[in-house]
Amino acid sequence: MKTRSFDFFLFLLTSLAFINLSLASYPCAKKDFGHDSVVCVCNSTFCDTVEPVVNPGRQKGWVYTSSKTGDRFNKTGFTFTSKSLYSTIFTINRNISYQTIQGFGGAFTDAAGINILSLPVPVQEKLLQSYYSPQGIEYTIGRIPMASCDFSTHPYSYDDYSMDFQLTNFSLTMEDIKYKIPIIQKALSMSARNMSIFGSPWSAPAWMKTNKNMTGRGSLIGQPGGKYFKTWANYFVKFLQAYQSHNITLWGLTAQNEPLDGELPRFPFQSMGWTPEMQRDFIVQDLGPALHDNGFENVKLMILDDQRFLLPKWSSVVLSDKAASAYISGIAVHWYADAISSPSDLDKAHTNFPEKFLFASEACEGDLPWERHVDMGSWYRAEAYGHSIVQDMNHWVTGWTDWNIALDMQGGPNWVSNFVDAPIIVNKDKQEFYKQPMFYAMGHFSKFVVPGSKRMDIKTQGSTNLELTAFISPDSSIVLVILNRHDTEEAISIQDPELGYLNTKISAHTILTLVWWH
Ligand SMILES: *[C@@H]1O[C@H](CO)[C@@H](O)[C@H](O)[C@H]1NC(C)=O
Ligand SMILES: *[C@@H]1O[C@H](CO)[C@@H](O)[C@H](O)[C@H]1NC(C)=O
Ligand SMILES: *[C@@H]1O[C@H](CO)[C@@H](O)[C@H](O)[C@H]1NC(C)=O
Ligand SMILES: *[C@@H]1O[C@H](CO)[C@@H](O)[C@H](O)[C@H]1NC(C)=O
Ligand SMILES: *[C@@H]1O[C@H](CO)[C@@H](O)[C@H](O)[C@H]1NC(C)=O
Ligand SMILES: *[C@@H]1O[C@H](CO)[C@@H](O)[C@H](O)[C@H]1NC(C)=O
Ligand SMILES: *[C@@H]1O[C@H](CO)[C@@H](O)[C@H](O)[C@H]1NC(C)=O
Repeated sequence: MKTRSFDFFLFLLTSLAFINLSLASYPCAKKDFGHDSVVCVCNSTFCDTVEPVVNPGRQKGWVYTSSKTGDRFNKTGFTFTSKSLYSTIFTINRNISYQTIQGFGGAFTDAAGINILSLPVPVQEKLLQSYYSPQGIEYTIGRIPMASCDFSTHPYSYDDYSMDFQLTNFSLTMEDIKYKIPIIQKALSMSARNMSIFGSPWSAPAWMKTNKNMTGRGSLIGQPGGKYFKTWANYFVKFLQAYQSHNITLWGLTAQNEPLDGELPRFPFQSMGWTPEMQRDFIVQDLGPALHDNGFENVKLMILDDQRFLLPKWSSVVLSDKAASAYISGIAVHWYADAISSPSDLDKAHTNFPEKFLFASEACEGDLPWERHVDMGSWYRAEAYGHSIVQDMNHWVTGWTDWNIALDMQGGPNWVSNFVDAPIIVNKDKQEFYKQPMFYAMGHFSKFVVPGSKRMDIKTQGSTNLELTAFISPDSSIVLVILNRHDTEEAISIQDPELGYLNTKISAHTILTLVWWH
């Protein structure tokens, strides 16, 4: 009897210890570089994690807060009450739901791989866990540049053998084998969710192009249906097969990264020019059939993959064609020129082509020549991400893809010195990395808005400066993301008609994610 109760006591003790261990989470190790907010430092022995999201019971929920003043996923509980206290009321409307969410993520570039591998193995593990594991922000979207882009150390393709129309010498390069594939495999193995990975080409091999160069103004030689276009379509098939042979099955493809770049004179890095008419005809005559004939008919083919101001023209030219449309699943947009176009273009594309999904395939900060490329601790940049994601979600976009998952202290490597910022910056010399505020902005969505969630309607009463978007998860929990980019606090009431009101104050310069069940 005595031993048994002692055993039971031991059992209790160890299971409590286990529960503690498995739920333990670590706060941000803040470092201030003297800009407007802080970064979180991770090294071989320490890295902050996200407190798990568990159902707290009826009428209760969690709010995760990150702020300019230094909160990073701080978690507190709340309870719905029967009265609203404030005149600004947001009502979650379960009666109306919109698009289904594919996910959030970033790109596996050569630069990202080089930076990650420059760290000792235990630090690499912490970096990838931060993005992909259940302790991290659980990205589910990944983008792979097909061969080189500016975030490579030099231009190369998968077949630089002139006139190799049979692609007999097609092969993945050292960069795929060293910098991309092992990292993607690690991400897949760490993830408890399903990942959606897509490929995008920057340029065909130089010998296939009018300018015989992977950079500058040029396009494929000849016309859709011709031998260069057929070869280029087969190159996509070979790429999918090559990644498949490494157990990486792609979810999607874009037909061309930024097709407008290659129409511009002296464009400095890998690019290839397309008009929407050319892309349409290439898909109908070459790429669509090649994918179908080789067992890749379920790979989601996306058009455009370029700035939003091109959306009206491209969607109309390409998708109005029935034969092209049959091969196409979605329309991908980049954020760089959002200032000169309206988000209502997204709504119009959705209205005109409701069966095609909209998808944000690239974004980064610090890309303009006069900007500080890496702005260590910039809260402003986190707000820019949050603003774009909320806006996109509220205009039918189903996923949002950041650019390089990791860059160095300069914002590279990049062979044309086109340095930019990233959510994770690697300091090779100190064997540590820094999670920028942008990392947390991404996480406020990626961690909580799981794939398969549907955006929900919100009714607003009263005036507000807040930006917000709501989702219902596959497990029917509600996720609400709120962004305050302003200098003043706002008192608001959130109403869930089935549960009551949450009265709360949203501090200046904060991003919050609220989660509750019913
Ligand atoms: C790692 O970071 C933790 C927390 O900031 C710190 O206590 C520890 O000394 C660091 N370890 C190394 C090896 O730098
Ligand atoms: C957020 O969490 C950090 C680390 O645990 C703590 O230092 C900070 O005071 C918290 N902020 C708030 C507002 O509770
Ligand atoms: C949802 O529909 C029900 C039944 O038509 C209605 O009573 C309720 O007010 C609606 N909810 C909202 C938030 O509009
Ligand atoms: C393939 O590469 C080899 C050299 O490795 C070369 O001799 C051959 O001509 C190439 N084939 C084609 C079709 O370019
Ligand atoms: C992943 O996808 C498979 C196949 O579609 C599905 O059965 C499984 O439930 C998914 N897992 C998660 C965690 O969503
Ligand atoms: C491609 O164009 C760049 C820029 O004009 C030039 O420096 C480079 O030599 C060209 N490469 C080839 C293979 O012609
Ligand atoms: C792919 O996965 C299979 C089964 O898990 C494994 O046997 C094989 O070694 C893997 N191949 C590669 C290239 O990773």
